Amino acid sequence: MRTDLAVGEGDRVPLPYPSGWFCLALSREVPAGAVVNRRFMGRDLVLYRTGGGVLRVVDAHCPHLGAHLGAGGVVEGEHLVCPFHRFAFDVEGSCAKAPGGAPPRATLAQYTVRERGKIIYVWHGHDAAPPAWEPSELPGDRFAPAASWSTLLASHPQEVMESFVDYQHQPIVHNVALREVAPLVDEGPLLRISFGADIRLSVRLATIKVEQGVVLSGPGLASGEVTLHQVGMVLGVVLTATPVGPWQTRLRVVVMTDAASRAEPSRLRKAASMSLSTVAGQALVQTIAHQMRQDARIWNWKRYEPDPRLTPEESAIGHYRRWVRQFYPPDTLPSETS
Ligand code: FES
Ligand SMILES: [Fe+2]
Repeated sequence: MRTDLAVGEGDRVPLPYPSGWFCLALSREVPAGAVVNRRFMGRDLVLYRTGGGVLRVVDAHCPHLGAHLGAGGVVEGEHLVCPFHRFAFDVEGSCAKAPGGAPPRATLAQYTVRERGKIIYVWHGHDAAPPAWEPSELPGDRFAPAASWSTLLASHPQEVMESFVDYQHQPIVHNVALREVAPLVDEGPLLRISFGADIRLSVRLATIKVEQGVVLSGPGLASGEVTLHQVGMVLGVVLTATPVGPWQTRLRVVVMTDAASRAEPSRLRKAASMSLSTVAGQALVQTIAHQMRQDARIWNWKRYEPDPRLTPEESAIGHYRRWVRQFYPPDTLPSETS
């Protein structure tokens, strides 16, 4: 992370916040009764889960006198209770109780949230309309998170996800040979990227074969599957980029395994299989994290180039730039790539 410049300073072209689904947390970070702070697009949000298991994402500041609900607020039953005057808000966001008498007509702003594959996503749109689309099928819909890694970048989700279609940097930055298997396929807010790559795991457990590539669900979420042929295991990978502030992005890598759902003939074999998949999951996370650190040396310092000078071999980047425009209001993206 660069430290000599404040994030957003320098000669970077402003890149607005895109619409889409953005990861705020893993489900296990927000158990029943928890109140969790998150920064998102320059705002403070609070995630909480009631005793009955209802998950909500709300504005962090209480509509009464502005106390921060994540700084001492608590869940009591199905209510979120403010630490300042103990106003209690129900899961609809309405003030349901106030200690002094009748509750005022106060509403806590709520955000649209989804929990998919034990990952929590919040929707950001450019108007108040409900989400126009859902994330693609995620590995986590079938598997469960086994290992994860996260870091803060001085970058933007669009820039982070662009690296999936920047095939040319793979051998240079990551020493990975990558083959484009098929051209990109647009499916509205989804972008299917088909490439093949052989990647050696950080421990010498196996060589990963990525054969189906990845699916982008908007600019904040990428998912795919990798096969560890030597051990006959399929792992799911979810990579998310969440804008925390201008040129500040939280990157998360989550690796999923399906060990829990395997039909194993004995408990011993099941335990052995689970530990193998856990080891494999952690090794894959470490491998991807290593690559992300290599990318971060570029991302943290590069600027957004609205009119990149691409070679004929880099048409996928131009394709991606055209696809990503749909996530911005018209005429707000300083990109003129055609
Ligand atoms: S500021 Fe929240 S109850 Fe007063
Ligand atoms: Fe990369």
